Amino acid sequence: MIMESNDKDELERLRIHYLGKSGQLAQISKEIRDPEVGRVFNEAKIAIEQALSLNTKHQSLDIDMSLPGKLPPIGHLHPVTNAIEEISGIFEKIGFTRARYPEVDWDYYAFEALNMPKTHPARDDWETFFVDAPENKKLGKLVLTPHTSNGQIHEMEETLPPIRMINIGKCYRRQSDVSHTVMFHQFEGLVIDEGINITHLKGTIDHFVKQFFGKERKSRLRPYHFQFTEPSFEVDVTCDICLGKGCKLCKEGWLELGGAGMVHPNVLKAGKVDTTKYTGFAFGWGVERTYMMKSGVKIDDLRLLYSNDIRFLNQF
Ligand code: PHE
Repeated sequence: MIMESNDKDELERLRIHYLGKSGQLAQISKEIRDPEVGRVFNEAKIAIEQALSLNTKHQSLDIDMSLPGKLPPIGHLHPVTNAIEEISGIFEKIGFTRARYPEVDWDYYAFEALNMPKTHPARDDWETFFVDAPENKKLGKLVLTPHTSNGQIHEMEETLPPIRMINIGKCYRRQSDVSHTVMFHQFEGLVIDEGINITHLKGTIDHFVKQFFGKERKSRLRPYHFQFTEPSFEVDVTCDICLGKGCKLCKEGWLELGGAGMVHPNVLKAGKVDTTKYTGFAFGWGVERTYMMKSGVKIDDLRLLYSNDIRFLNQF
């Protein structure tokens, strides 16, 4: 009867008659004691419900085909993944090749070949995690790479100059506060060729800054010290709020991006590069930090990026 009916009112009467609050089934269910009877009763109830929902003849009158459907929830790439893609794209367009080198590596690559012998105090600047694993006689202990500069040595071992590499990877340091996470990403640039000098470094940095941050942002090199570059610099970019004038949020108009410099001859030698013929520059900056310096990205606690909170991630 239910399946055959074309009459909307009749179907509604039938629904109330069987399934309504004081309908037939509700009455019967009060008297059921035997579980077997209960099972049969449930089957009957389901059959009636199905018959009612399957009879769509009358329903067609109620459906507005022009209403938009419900969209399934769709995710998107993580903001850090997007930043990595954007950064690689900028460098690839000017001839850099993206490389990936180990994120768990030997002491030799992370320190020693970068002009930091075993007992060198500069090693303390990288609050390094050592892996509890047997030491390699030649290469030393295993570490969770505290920077992506280990990629410089691997690249020189694998590629003959000219080299134009961008190595993006995970780094680990014993640190956690609003501007530091234990795991973070760096991108490391390395260029080695004949006649490479500081102007090439500055030109590359300027190009990146204009592409990634916008035309109105400027960069500057500030003298610094790294064991693996000479001379060494810290790279600053004008603040996105005051554009260099100076405000509450920056150091006199500038924000610090990260380290750079001309590759130290000892590092070139460790990578078996002919130092009478070639020179090079390198830079290494944090992806998360660089991303946060983009105009309009206001994240007051970097750890939020890795807390997997959908309310935070949905905003990107
Ligand atoms: N590895 C350095 C750091 O982690 C950055 C750097 C890379 C500096 C390359 C100079 C050249 O701070």
